[in-house]
Amino acid sequence: MRSAKDFFAPLAVGAPTPPRDIPWRPSRVIHFFDPSNEKMAAKLPGLIPRVDVLLGNLEDGVRADNKIAAREGLVKVAEGNDFGETQFWVRVNSIDSPWGLDDLLTLVPAIGAKLDVIMLPKVQGAEDIHYIDRLLAQLEAKAGLTRPILVHAILETARGVGNVEEICAASPRMQGLSLGPADLAADRRMKTTRVGGGHPGYLVRQDPNPDAPDAVRATFQQDPWHYTLARMVDACVAHGIMPYYGPFGDIADVTACEDQFRNAFLLGAVGAWSLHPVQIDIAKKVFSPEVKDVEWAKKVVDAMGDGTGAVMVNGTMQDDASVKQCRVILDLARRLAA
Ligand code: GLV
Ligand code: MG
Repeated sequence: MRSAKDFFAPLAVGAPTPPRDIPWRPSRVIHFFDPSNEKMAAKLPGLIPRVDVLLGNLEDGVRADNKIAAREGLVKVAEGNDFGETQFWVRVNSIDSPWGLDDLLTLVPAIGAKLDVIMLPKVQGAEDIHYIDRLLAQLEAKAGLTRPILVHAILETARGVGNVEEICAASPRMQGLSLGPADLAADRRMKTTRVGGGHPGYLVRQDPNPDAPDAVRATFQQDPWHYTLARMVDACVAHGIMPYYGPFGDIADVTACEDQFRNAFLLGAVGAWSLHPVQIDIAKKVFSPEVKDVEWAKKVVDAMGDGTGAVMVNGTMQDDASVKQCRVILDLARRLAA
């Protein structure tokens, strides 16, 4: 199986070899469902082939008095479905909540062989990953599992962002990180009540025009998640794991959702969450290279021959570095087509 290490190889010139070799599988869209909702569970057979990752959510969004029903519902879903090429993930409750430990103690023995990745919320530092790593090692050994379950952390506290490097490096089980903009906004005391996306108040204003000082000055919205996402992408790449944008809560605003996902894709993220079926095709489209970009990349790679030196393509200078950029796009297109 192709690995995440190979995925980053075109970029990793002179960089230390990442310490791990996690499997690479498409994960442009991580589709969330509530396993306590039987109506939703009944629709899963139609949904599974449409998504790269199906994730049963046990954490926020599931009422406290429904946590056990959700956990039991997830076991039923795992037992009753064939996931084919689709990955099956779970978001457990945080390890300092009343349910996190029982989630792991129940799920690993019952359905560990079907679980590809455990998403752990509210990760603060390497100690959280060490805890789940050791616990999983024991539970896997007891259940006789031969394939390790991977761990994906949500970056959604200020402390977690500060410790992002050590979180990525904390275990060879680390598969990736997602940005959690809602919890992160609350933890940082930001003043947005949205789940991801921009804010009309977070803007810059064009300078005054000295020739028309009273003229209306345009404003431009900024992306409040840019800093964290860029920091997360750097940390993930440095450690050979995958960065993801998280949730976009305004389901009706498909345009803004697509924009937010595209910003993340362009910055290096490999996928995003889908909270509603309408977001599935948005994520799949955005996190796949566009045909015109693939064609351009091919043209540059062909023009560059052995990949060294400099050539002009359509009036633009291309060299050893730009050919690497093009190979990133071609490599992703090839993997997704495989
Ligand atoms: C996701 O969990 C978030 O808090 O945004
Ligand atoms: Mg959260």
